[in-house]
Amino acid sequence: MVPLKRRKLVPSHAGNTGTNLSGEKVPAKFPQVVLFLLERKMGASRRAFLSQLGRKKGFQVEEMLSKSVTHLISENNSGAEVRAWLDSQDQKPAHLLDISWYTESMREGHPVEILDRHKLQDQRINEAEVEVFSVPSYACQRRTTLDNHNTTLTDALSLLAENAELSDEEGRGVAFRRAAAVLKALPKPVTSMSQLRGLPCLGEHSLRVVKDILENGASSEAESTKQSGRYNALKALTGIFGVGAKTADRWIREGIRSLQQLQDSGQTLNRAQQAGLEHYDDINQPVTKAEADAIGEIVERAVVSVLPGAQMSLIGGFRRGKLTGHDVDFLITHPEEGREVGLMPKVVARLESQGFLLYQKTTRNSYLESNDGPARPASNIDRFERCFSIFKLAKEEKRGATQPETLTENGVQILQTKPARHKPWRAVRVDLVVSPISQFAFALLGWTGSKLFERELRRWAGHEKAMSLSSHALYDNKQISESDVGGGDICTSWFGVHPTVREERLTRLLSPYRRTKRSPI
Ligand code: UTP
Ligand code: MN
Repeated sequence: MVPLKRRKLVPSHAGNTGTNLSGEKVPAKFPQVVLFLLERKMGASRRAFLSQLGRKKGFQVEEMLSKSVTHLISENNSGAEVRAWLDSQDQKPAHLLDISWYTESMREGHPVEILDRHKLQDQRINEAEVEVFSVPSYACQRRTTLDNHNTTLTDALSLLAENAELSDEEGRGVAFRRAAAVLKALPKPVTSMSQLRGLPCLGEHSLRVVKDILENGASSEAESTKQSGRYNALKALTGIFGVGAKTADRWIREGIRSLQQLQDSGQTLNRAQQAGLEHYDDINQPVTKAEADAIGEIVERAVVSVLPGAQMSLIGGFRRGKLTGHDVDFLITHPEEGREVGLMPKVVARLESQGFLLYQKTTRNSYLESNDGPARPASNIDRFERCFSIFKLAKEEKRGATQPETLTENGVQILQTKPARHKPWRAVRVDLVVSPISQFAFALLGWTGSKLFERELRRWAGHEKAMSLSSHALYDNKQISESDVGGGDICTSWFGVHPTVREERLTRLLSPYRRTKRSPI
């Protein structure tokens, strides 16, 4: 082995102090832990960067090896190499650790428990022994769990996905969402890039983000996005109900970056945007399951009072078991085909007369008007009669008490506003959808989400089963004859079967893996 250079020892800093970014001495947060990063194979600049990161997080990181050092951190050296180097020194730190212990501690913000895998082995771990993960490539083929073991990775990727979506870059958004969904499905935390070899949907860019986090505890791209003025302006402006990425982008180009600037600008706002601005704080506060259930009871009462026998299902994120959501979605039908016609305006009028709607806009269904078959999907946008509303929900003391104080999304604290002191209600976004019973199974499946799951289910049906799935129907593409300009034959065997049985069969047909416990992706 090449002899290692002997290091000159200098006395360490007296006392348990660290150095902050401005070079001032600050008390170390973890006085029992004094770190020394070995420069060998790590390199001087990476060592300086990692030391700085540690100090920023309140760790005491020494420049020189001294007797106060408790943890020696090394990267890419074997235990034997480090021990050989230590033999030439007079110091013997209590723990000889791999860089993985350091990056995990950075991520957690405190020294993590030292596990066997963190300790420097005499032989470098054979890469082949690292557990390599494997998952099916379509999200709908995966069992999705409520336990996400890789939140740091998925938070960063979801943030980059959101930023791409807000910037109207759908392709990039989907790529990041797919990567995040794959990592969310893994049974354990990722500790090394070699575990990801062969995993689907992890493109070059997503892998770069993962590598950055594994090595440095954070993704520099996600961090800088989080700080960027454009991302924050897009988030603030699209937080207004009725404002999409395109409108927000136009306003930003006109110099509008905040709600205040929007109000001062005198821009003409449509009715939805006016209502969105008026109820901004409430709408940007997550809706709890208890609130969703309370709204469900009110809407259901209105539905059955105007059409006895009508049925209503909670759909969207809450149907997947999410505890909070950005809105509440309901699907309404009637077991007798055709009885649902004209239902939506009556439900809306009823809720309006009861004072429950702060805003509503109903769009008529268009599946009957289309001349390309009753439900042939022209795009992913469905054609059901739909009502976008802002619901006025009375606050209940009991319900208010169960609300978490701070909620985060992608690791970013969601705008939290102080609840108005004396306002006895809050505004909640509510979507109502009406489907005829013959399309109910498809509507229920299509509206359960998540968006990525639905996209993957449709991709899988198309590519692997030669079928077209939409929220209206399932077509067998093989039955489409060339002369049939109206589109393929709808799977008519679905009619006459009870809707819940139909959905169950549909799900089984489309998924080789039984989905038991679904959770948001
Ligand atoms: P949401 O946007 O409400 O998402 O759409 P979510 O999954 O409930 O999550 P929250 O609300 O942010 O908590 C619900 C599902 O309805 C379908 C999509 O499949 C989506 O996942 N959907 C939504 C449509 O099919 N068409 C639409 O126009 C909107
Ligand atoms: Mn929803």
